Amino acid sequence: MYNFRFSIPTTIYFGKGQISHLDELKKSGDKVLMCYGGGSIRKNGIYDTALKILSDAGLTVTELSGVEPNPKIETVRRGVELCKTQGIDMVLAIGGGSTIDCAKIVAAGAKYDGDPWDLVLDGSRIKAALPIYSVLTLSATGSEMDEFAVISDMSKNEKWGTASEHIIPAMSVLDPTYTFTVSKKQTAAGTADMMSHTFENYFNFTEGADVQANFAEGLLRVMIKYGPIALEQPDNYDARANLMWAGSNAINGLIADGCQPAWCVHPMEHELSAFYDITHGQGLAILTPAWMEYVLSDKTARKFADYGRHVWGLTDTDDMTAARKAIECTRDFLFNKMGMPSTLKEVGITDKTNFKVMAEKAAKGSVGSFVPLTAEDIEKIYEAALG
Ligand code: NZQ
Ligand code: ZN
Repeated sequence: MYNFRFSIPTTIYFGKGQISHLDELKKSGDKVLMCYGGGSIRKNGIYDTALKILSDAGLTVTELSGVEPNPKIETVRRGVELCKTQGIDMVLAIGGGSTIDCAKIVAAGAKYDGDPWDLVLDGSRIKAALPIYSVLTLSATGSEMDEFAVISDMSKNEKWGTASEHIIPAMSVLDPTYTFTVSKKQTAAGTADMMSHTFENYFNFTEGADVQANFAEGLLRVMIKYGPIALEQPDNYDARANLMWAGSNAINGLIADGCQPAWCVHPMEHELSAFYDITHGQGLAILTPAWMEYVLSDKTARKFADYGRHVWGLTDTDDMTAARKAIECTRDFLFNKMGMPSTLKEVGITDKTNFKVMAEKAAKGSVGSFVPLTAEDIEKIYEAALG
């Protein structure tokens, strides 16, 4: 296990009715920029509840609405402008990862003199941010408790993740009942996303990091248990609660610190979203088994076998046999039990036109991963996933 610093400054209020704690925002000032997406929070009533709590607490609310899935830099710029012209004191995101990510870069952009795209390209330029709060409505990204934000500039086919300790939320409300209205498609995509975060952290060769590995395997077992239940029973509280808390812990450092993993499936997926604007979790689901099969070798079989035995309960003693079965279990879970698309063609990517340029960019973003991948390797993985 390597040395590490573990620090999560986010206060989590977890459970039914915890949105009442939004009155605590008043400690950050008077003026809130409330960011939200395309309207789900208006339909399910969270919008009205939040506004009432904020206004009862004497806070003035300015709205940044219409944050799109795979949030765009133009929306971030709109938010930064509002912050600067209206003297906003803090940013509150109510939504999924897209809304929270957008709010994070708005908060950082409000404290930055240049264009916020600079902060997306280089997180070290983020030297300060307005306080960030969130009410999570979709279990997936872990943005509610992490230092990352992912923003797109579709005019350049670019989607990049940035990171800074300044954009970790100060407080996040996690009320599982708020995810009852999440569609089957997004529930499945969210589950695939949090599984992928766990895989990205878990598949490494670090010796002696048993705590992290066991936490990761436990999180995966929880996701595999509750994902299908949430699909079938959208208002099953325990299913939604376990997915929500598992999603946060998959990416907040708990299973990564001390292991130094380098992600590779995410950089590959971000190129799919950058060129085709697809749903992040669907892209990951399609790529994950293709990646697993591509990197399976005598060197990696032991780790895949560990995964198979500890997550899927396989009893095969031969590592390669267990590894192959584990990949098959993953495929069956994502595509059959969770009903996710299994090929790129199913999400509208019908030919190889952009694969070369996408693979070159993804290769730069995945240096040091479990199995080092060249642009040519990544192109082959895209081709295997095309269908
Ligand atoms: O926009 P609204 O109307 O709110 O609808 C959203 C959106 O259409 C809907 N939704 C959210 N909560 C709902 C709901 N519908 C009904 N009931 C609710 N309670 O779901 C749709 C998708 O929302 P979105 O926020 O885009 O999903 P997700 O949370 O999966 O976020 C995806 C974004 O996060 C980035 C992805 O790349 C993508 O841009 N990621 C962020 C990470 C991070 N900050 O750490 C890491 C991830 O790996 C990921 O890259
Ligand atoms: Zn992700």
